[in-house]
Amino acid sequence: MILVYGPTLCEAKHRQTRVVRFPTRLRFIINTMRHLHIDPKLFIQNRDRLKARLMPGSLTFVNANDILPTNADGTLLMQPNSDLFYLTGIEQEESVLALFPDHPDESMREILFLREPNEHLKVWEGHKHSREQAISISGIRNIKWLSALPTLIRQLMCDADHVYLNSNEHKRAVVEVESRDARFINHLRAHYPLHQYHRLSRIMHQIRSVKSDVELNLLNRAISVTKKGFERVAKATRQGVTEYELEAEFIHEFTRNRCKFSYNPIIAAGENSCILHYNQNDQTLKNGDLLLLDVGANYANYNADLTRTIPVSGKFTARQRAVYEAVLRVQKASIAGAVVGKLHKDWFKESQEMMNQELLQLGLIEQKDIDDQKPSEPACRKYFMHGLGHVLGLDVHDVGLMHEPFAPGWVLTVEPGIYIPKEGFGIRLENNILVTENGPMDLMADIAIEPDDIEALMAQ
Ligand code: GLY
Ligand code: MN
Ligand code: MN
Repeated sequence: MILVYGPTLCEAKHRQTRVVRFPTRLRFIINTMRHLHIDPKLFIQNRDRLKARLMPGSLTFVNANDILPTNADGTLLMQPNSDLFYLTGIEQEESVLALFPDHPDESMREILFLREPNEHLKVWEGHKHSREQAISISGIRNIKWLSALPTLIRQLMCDADHVYLNSNEHKRAVVEVESRDARFINHLRAHYPLHQYHRLSRIMHQIRSVKSDVELNLLNRAISVTKKGFERVAKATRQGVTEYELEAEFIHEFTRNRCKFSYNPIIAAGENSCILHYNQNDQTLKNGDLLLLDVGANYANYNADLTRTIPVSGKFTARQRAVYEAVLRVQKASIAGAVVGKLHKDWFKESQEMMNQELLQLGLIEQKDIDDQKPSEPACRKYFMHGLGHVLGLDVHDVGLMHEPFAPGWVLTVEPGIYIPKEGFGIRLENNILVTENGPMDLMADIAIEPDDIEALMAQ
């Protein structure tokens, strides 16, 4: 049992002043999620940010993700829908949010539809949110069961002029499976063909780009657990250990700290460190190898994204150290360069120019390669063939407006690398930073990165 909050909560800072009253009996609730309870102010504020951007007479729906099938009757664990979580804090399957900010009937302005708990579900699947719990998580007062959805869709649609519907518009997404949101769109368009439909994702990308203080606290918790995991693994790294044993060390630290993996961890020794999306994690470590660890903890759906490259023996060779220091210089300069107003493409180009010079010093390219390079194919791409970084948040490669200048509140990864298969190693270093008015803030500044600090950590 955890103390959640008292009977009233004032939300005065935003567009409208609102007072949300919670019944006193909600003072204590059972925490049904792995992470600690989050003050629903976060989700109330997030909904206010969305409402401020909708046209008058607008209705919007956001659906949970499907539980995806595997083989036979198997399923994957459900991945909460990031937009639904951002707007409600709800992670339960089949949930639907309806927002109609200027509906004349106040009770219709925010409705959350949930699976109705029953004895059968309780036996087979366990706990489902009660109305009271859903209110305490989301701050939404009007909780309905899914059986009411068809009737209420009709009522809401008949009063709406504009309907915003959600879809995955991440530029790099490969969408081959129809989502619940996609099925919902098909249903509405078939039954209400004369409405004006709009894309919710444009607005979601805008508002999710700028992280609030509460979101940053959640992300910082994910980062601090990632640090614990990394330090545990650095101390356990030695010749003869396998990549999957180190994966288990991360799981140990993440799970006991209420976290999951942000993504399948990359634990890549020796030549595997040159495989950008390596995820077999099944090889044995050897002295002389480098070990690339690209791993992050996910806390309350917020993702950390760390990369460190460490020597299996505990000591870098002179050559490994020289390449490592080159990557570190590019990373430090790129962190310093992530200032308000910078365009992502310019930031990336600056890093490529620095990398060209580093590769020249390392003898990996020649001046002629730089002189002859095409703008679209800088010389460094032979050894640094991926991007410099991405926005980070509820998704690892988060949604955001990447053509717009960096703005305060953006969180970015900074992850240059040099991969030299013919020398049997690759080095990537990745930190997570916050763009602020006063310059970039390194959220991973306390995770060892200097080669001497890495060696000292491994010697412990
Ligand atoms: N691990 C995913 C990335 O670094 O982008
Ligand atoms: Mn990463
Ligand atoms: Mn990354």
